[in-house]
Amino acid sequence: MQSSSVTDSTTRLGRSDLTVRRIGLGAWPMAGITSLGVTDEDSIATIRRALDLGIDHLDTAYSYGKDGRSDRVIAAALHDRAERVVVASKVGAYLDSQGVWTKDARPESMLQQASEVRDRLRLETIDLMYLHAPDPNVPLSESADALKRIVELGWARWAGICNVNRPQLEDFHRRCPVVAVQTYFNMFQQESVEDLRDFCRSHSISIVVYWALMKGMLAGRMLRDHQLDPLDRRRNYPIYQGEQWQSAQDLLDRLRSKSQQLGCTVAQLVLAWTLAQPCISVALVGAKRPEQVEETARSMEFTLQNDVLATIDNWIADCKQHGAWKL
Ligand SMILES: NC(=O)c1ccc[n+]([C@@H]2O[C@H](COP(=O)([O-])OP(=O)(O)OC[C@H]3O[C@@H](n4cnc5c(N)ncnc54)[C@H](OP(=O)(O)O)[C@@H]3O)[C@@H](O)[C@H]2O)c1
Repeated sequence: MQSSSVTDSTTRLGRSDLTVRRIGLGAWPMAGITSLGVTDEDSIATIRRALDLGIDHLDTAYSYGKDGRSDRVIAAALHDRAERVVVASKVGAYLDSQGVWTKDARPESMLQQASEVRDRLRLETIDLMYLHAPDPNVPLSESADALKRIVELGWARWAGICNVNRPQLEDFHRRCPVVAVQTYFNMFQQESVEDLRDFCRSHSISIVVYWALMKGMLAGRMLRDHQLDPLDRRRNYPIYQGEQWQSAQDLLDRLRSKSQQLGCTVAQLVLAWTLAQPCISVALVGAKRPEQVEETARSMEFTLQNDVLATIDNWIADCKQHGAWKL
């Protein structure tokens, strides 16, 4: 592994004036909905540690936790910090009373959610506001106009969209120009980025990915015989079960030995590989404890040599012979 220059670890989001490090901190675990053992004290310490380490991009959403839990810990962590931090949020979905993530991208809902997000984050203007996902009950054009309105009102500086396919992105971008698109991406799941990348490249839209660590599996700490807590919702994901789990562990065994050889951790190897993918601008990585963000932030210090990237790509191809991967 080689150390890279600082410029390799920063990127500009689309045509905006937002320049960020290539690892951003995702606040979903801090919402305490799917992650276990979450405390606001740990979350605040995690955000502050991230800032100490130079992470300057926080990703939250209206729907992250009961009553905006992730927004509130971000506000608490930032209130006395002088660093310039890009705060990205999302509207168009909420958590229902059972804690089920539910789409609602009606224009009036999006405006109401944006207003609440500003209050919770204690920010007049959110740097980047995404539509969280297209709502099948609302024409995408209406949601696009609502997000455009949020920007025109000065409640957000720039617009983005998440969880779209290429035709949806094209339609949305025509009505509400976006600087970034968020989608999933990891060693097992690359198809969404493949679908979006040509349009994004030709329209200067940054691709910001989530699940690079596959919700923790690709951090490599869960060994083959790991038993997830009965309350851990990751038990429900196919990739955490049966043949897919065993096959993922085969890949992880190879990554474990490669990371040892290179003097880094598995999470750092996986994130360095992610950032080496030419079409990816930023990887958002979730954390709820300071030591996690310490490990992931360091991945920006490394660039993998081409032969290492090719070897990992071959290992992934071996693994994919076992069929489609689902989180
Ligand atoms: N736009 C969208 O629709 C969308 C969807 C999903 C996510 N996102 C954004 O993307 C971010 C990333 O996704 P994610 O948080 O769901 O998943 P992720 O980044 O793939 O995984 C996060 C989990 O990995 C584990 N982890 C992190 N660092 C670790 C380390 N150094 N060592 C061991 N384990 C580590 C933690 O698990 P434990 O909880 O077990 O400690 C953490 O909760 C989110 O937080 C959110 O901001 C956006």
